[in-house]
Amino acid sequence: MLFRNRFLLLLALAALLAFVSLSLQFFHLIPVSTAKNGVSSKSRKRIMPDPVTEPPVTDPVYEALLYCNIPSVAERSMEGHAPHHFKLVSVHVFIRHGDRYPLYVIPKTKRPEIDCTLVANRKPYHPKLEAFVSHMSKGSGASFESPLNSLPLYPNHPLCEMGELTQTGVVQHLQNGQLLRDIYLKKHKLLPNDWSADQLYLETTGKSRTLQSGLALLYGFLPDFDWKKIYFRHQPSALFCSGSCYCPVRNQYLEKEQRRQYLLRLKNSQLEKTYGEMAKIVDVPTKQLRAANPIDSMLCHLCHNVSFPCTRNGCVDMEHFKVIKTHQIEDERERREKKLYLGYSLLGAHPILNQTIGRMQRATEGRKEELFALYSAHDVTLSPVLSALGLSEARFPRFAARLIFELWQDREKPNEHSVRILYNGVDVTFHTSFCQDHHKRSPKPMCPLENLVRFVKRDMFVALGGSSTNYYDACHREGF
Ligand SMILES: *[C@@H]1O[C@H](CO)[C@@H](O)[C@H](O)[C@H]1NC(C)=O
Ligand SMILES: *[C@@H]1O[C@H](CO)[C@@H](O)[C@H](O)[C@H]1NC(C)=O
Repeated sequence: MLFRNRFLLLLALAALLAFVSLSLQFFHLIPVSTAKNGVSSKSRKRIMPDPVTEPPVTDPVYEALLYCNIPSVAERSMEGHAPHHFKLVSVHVFIRHGDRYPLYVIPKTKRPEIDCTLVANRKPYHPKLEAFVSHMSKGSGASFESPLNSLPLYPNHPLCEMGELTQTGVVQHLQNGQLLRDIYLKKHKLLPNDWSADQLYLETTGKSRTLQSGLALLYGFLPDFDWKKIYFRHQPSALFCSGSCYCPVRNQYLEKEQRRQYLLRLKNSQLEKTYGEMAKIVDVPTKQLRAANPIDSMLCHLCHNVSFPCTRNGCVDMEHFKVIKTHQIEDERERREKKLYLGYSLLGAHPILNQTIGRMQRATEGRKEELFALYSAHDVTLSPVLSALGLSEARFPRFAARLIFELWQDREKPNEHSVRILYNGVDVTFHTSFCQDHHKRSPKPMCPLENLVRFVKRDMFVALGGSSTNYYDACHREGF
């Protein structure tokens, strides 16, 4: 009982903290006319640690609750903000799937009882939830590239299966979709009234949670969700690298990065002690407990307000959670410093960024296809893209995270195209490595498309430090 109260108190406190902090930041985030003097330090809030609105030491519980992304108050976002003489040309959306059931179980404990059916009288709720279920149940197999057509179109197990999307996850993406609809369709008329299948480009990995997340977002987004106009392509690789996945140097970076991770873990005696204690509680060897990646399960307990598991030897508790989560944060810090992950990311994200600029360039030529692209993906997709763009300070992708590229045309200079980049509703355009300097020179609140193109075609490889200037050479560099 004592444990339960302490748990709830902590949860409530952290939720309040998160809410206050986010609200404050959102107020700062209302665009302060970056056009006036080109200096907008205010837009540096939220993805960067901020001494005023965030705890001085990164608080593991606060970070965890941001990660849960529990739908509550209507969100403010910066998507679609542009001077009136700019026309929205195309939008490219990368999402992480919504809240899911853990991928691992803590050995020898009862797994958390979470219901993955979708029902109106459970929170969180979205007004479109019932309509979504009824529409999905009439789904059409013709809308999916094989093997996607064998996947269920919405979560439906009374006890969630491993990795299954939850109601929270569906609501998160219905909300994302609705938000994007208000901005991109209602305000900016991205799609014509008689839009057709060609105007969407939809791609998902082969997991039910990503497909279902993509469908929920689209259901919130599209004015009429017509199965005949939906076609989801299947992406076998979490890097979305399609035909360009073979890259030996990328794998070498990854191996070195994993080695770094391993060494950092060994140095953390408190972490080892914590795993040891937890292993005793559940009565398995420490190695087995660690391999079961308990943080994934513990986050589910936290996000769903279900107390941590107990056995007759005791309970897994918040102190254990804090130690592991704090280590994760420390690990991310060292990851930024050592830059091995950056090398991995530059090569890992190149194919999908290359595809995106290709799509943008076709749109600048006046082609009307693929005006809205949606990639329904994973943390291991978004993380490398963020890192490659130079957004290494950005928070780890939370459930239902969204990273958006907007392409704009200046009506006064129709040959000039610009991009904006937004992460979870925050404008991060001028945090990217290819537009930091531009920011200081230009009064325009956007980045020239050429900057992004130059970065993807060449500068990404220069950033790797070798002499390579293209993907193939960079991937096959000898003596790395
Ligand atoms: C968490 O669950 C308890 C019941 O176990 C409930 O009283 C409390 O309101 C819940 N808290 C939140 C934030 O949902
Ligand atoms: C980049 O995109 C172009 C077309 O836009 C394509 O020809 C090229 O093969 C792509 N490169 C990689 C490495 O994906």
